[in-house]
Amino acid sequence: MCGIVGYTGYRPAAPIVVEGLKKLEYRGYDSFGVAAKNNDMSIDCYKRQGRISEAEKAASMLKGTMGIGHTRWATHGVPNDVNAHPHYDCRKRIAVVHNGIIENYAELKRGLVSRGHSFSSDTDTEVIAHLLEEVYTGDLFKAMKAILPKLSGSYALLVMAEGDDRIIAARESSPLVLGFGDGEMFAASDMTPLLDHTERMMFLEDGDIAVLSPDNARVFSGDTEVTRKVELIDWSVGDAKRGGFKHFMLKEIYEQPHVFSDTIRSVETVPDGLARCKGAMVVACGTSYHAGMVFKYLLEEACHIPVRLELGSEFKYFTPPVTELVIGITQSGETADTLAALKKAKAHNCPTLAITNVLGSTVTRIADETLYMRAGPEISVAATKSFIAELAVLMQCVNHLSGGKFSEEIFRANRAVEEVLLLDLSTAVQTCNGADHIFFVGRGPFYAVALEGALKMKEISYIHAEGYAAGEIKHGPFALLSPKTPVVAICMPGSTYGVMVSNIKEMKARGTPVVVIGAGGDDELAAIADVYIGLPKGGLMEEVLMTTVVLQLLAYRTADSLGRDIDKPRNLAKSVTVE
Ligand code: AGP
Repeated sequence: MCGIVGYTGYRPAAPIVVEGLKKLEYRGYDSFGVAAKNNDMSIDCYKRQGRISEAEKAASMLKGTMGIGHTRWATHGVPNDVNAHPHYDCRKRIAVVHNGIIENYAELKRGLVSRGHSFSSDTDTEVIAHLLEEVYTGDLFKAMKAILPKLSGSYALLVMAEGDDRIIAARESSPLVLGFGDGEMFAASDMTPLLDHTERMMFLEDGDIAVLSPDNARVFSGDTEVTRKVELIDWSVGDAKRGGFKHFMLKEIYEQPHVFSDTIRSVETVPDGLARCKGAMVVACGTSYHAGMVFKYLLEEACHIPVRLELGSEFKYFTPPVTELVIGITQSGETADTLAALKKAKAHNCPTLAITNVLGSTVTRIADETLYMRAGPEISVAATKSFIAELAVLMQCVNHLSGGKFSEEIFRANRAVEEVLLLDLSTAVQTCNGADHIFFVGRGPFYAVALEGALKMKEISYIHAEGYAAGEIKHGPFALLSPKTPVVAICMPGSTYGVMVSNIKEMKARGTPVVVIGAGGDDELAAIADVYIGLPKGGLMEEVLMTTVVLQLLAYRTADSLGRDIDKPRNLAKSVTVE
């Protein structure tokens, strides 16, 4: 959601900023803009609604070796050229790009208008430029320090002004990373635009103001200059490129066997909070919530430790009694709802654990302890390898807590995933791609997998898909079953096999085409199914992984057959940083 990039150095800034913005496209955007500072120190700007590719050349032509840029995902004001960032003060001497939301902007705007400022856009951001205008006398850092206390809400800000040769960056509840080159300094909302230029990065903290010059970055918190660690990032540039794959999503699906193994190996012990806990609560959103649901089934079954599950967006508004360990699962580490839920848990004095993919992300600063996934950058909006990496972390935790009961299984599981990547799903795709509605059903951990399969299908194919606990279909959704509404059923061997077979038969009796995912060689089950996808033999954890990958591929192939914009589905943002 929104992205910002800044550069100051010896090279032309605009092309570097535009390239950086392209790396942030995956976060979702509807308009973009760049401002660069000419050698005569005046600021030029190019901004417009639409894709960067439609105006890349024009935006890259701006002159100057200092620049800031923005991809906008509209919140205040419709997507159009005027509302695109950067925003200016009245005299166009100060340019601002902003991620986040200024909650008190309406009140600030009223005051500014009454003092004679004239506004060009409907955005909340523009108030920042006008507030700066009132106090700026040639020292932009001083001006920023003066106005930031007036803002409430969230921001990652980059600001330039005529008469000051520094970029000023500031952060409050919205991510901002600095990149250190040789004689060049970079800033961005996340690491991906910086990977091309440097592996040395610094993660700003809430309340930080950074003063960026080509040779250094000084960071202040209040009146005090502070030291923030420069981290060496081992994500490679190739990780954030599509390689020979048609879409990032497909590339990321194919990366899963090694992502799973790398992550399993990296989780060598269970954090203290988890090792000690008598119960846990997971807070998460979307795909990460589904990972939490798998964890609940696995941990309760293997270790008899009760796990509660809460959506981040719900938990923060209500106060269910909570005393146990609270685990926040978030790939990006920046999902506003999950962060708010964790903050609330902390306010209740609960111990907290974060599971995330992104070093230095906000969640790592909120939680008492953090476990990292080893997924590398995930560019496709639809989460795939990060889900597998979340499962790897959680499965390894269950394994450690159970005394190593699953070691053999999880260390060979990457091979099971590899085999699934080779499956031919064309008949299943044909069953799905003509449908308007699809149900995904399963039981136990496969219910969580069904929910995740439905989420993948709906977000990238735009076919309405619902995940259901198989036993619940009779309690309502049965009314919707018809020959035009296929069901994808997960029916693996185990305690729920028999009842799943009955459920499938009941659905078939309503004329519903059923795609069944089951064990390879189960001829009886295959005979009931309209389409049968047989999987290699494996333990429960391997089955969870394999069925997940089948549903990811089914969604991908279905969406591709419909010609969808798979990596950037409509209306969606990769990281949902507003509530
Ligand atoms: C999944 O495909 C979605 N893009 C979305 O549900 C995502 O999982 C959710 O927004 C949570 O993101 P997080 O893991 O970064 O917190």
